[in-house]
Amino acid sequence: MKILVLNGPNLNLLGERQPEIYGRDGLGEILRQVRERAKALGVEVDDFQSNEEGALVTKIGESPRQYAGLIFNPAAYTHTSVALRDALDACRLPCVEVHLSNVHRREAFRHTSLTAAACVGQIMGFGARSYLLGLEALVGILREKTGPAPAKA
Ligand code: DQA
Repeated sequence: MKILVLNGPNLNLLGERQPEIYGRDGLGEILRQVRERAKALGVEVDDFQSNEEGALVTKIGESPRQYAGLIFNPAAYTHTSVALRDALDACRLPCVEVHLSNVHRREAFRHTSLTAAACVGQIMGFGARSYLLGLEALVGILREKTGPAPAKA
């Protein structure tokens, strides 16, 4: 079972970008933790980050061919992107939306998510742990659908 971890704009800057809000871990370190947890859960993970809305739309559109589900931090596009919402609706893969910060404790413009309604759920406010919790939730949902993974020989 393969899962795609998608990251939107400016998340390539994690570590340097407002560490008081987003923490000191860079995206590479967060993805390392995600891969470690994925291994423990017995699933494979690919990742993709882009600062461009269209690149994210294209990646989501291609994802049903390769992936069972998505972990997605759409970053600022969460609050603005009808195109990403439509891409998620069209691809029909289960998606867990994750955010490092609790957007409801922040500016009002961050309180709306256009993407969340196309997702099975949303996890926010736990820093890098949001991704790990999101992965666990997604794998749980996928396993309920498909049954447990076969034991390794
Ligand atoms: C974010 C929250 C968004 O409002 C913001 O634009 C981001 C990061 C988060 O992970 O907390 O870029 O998605």
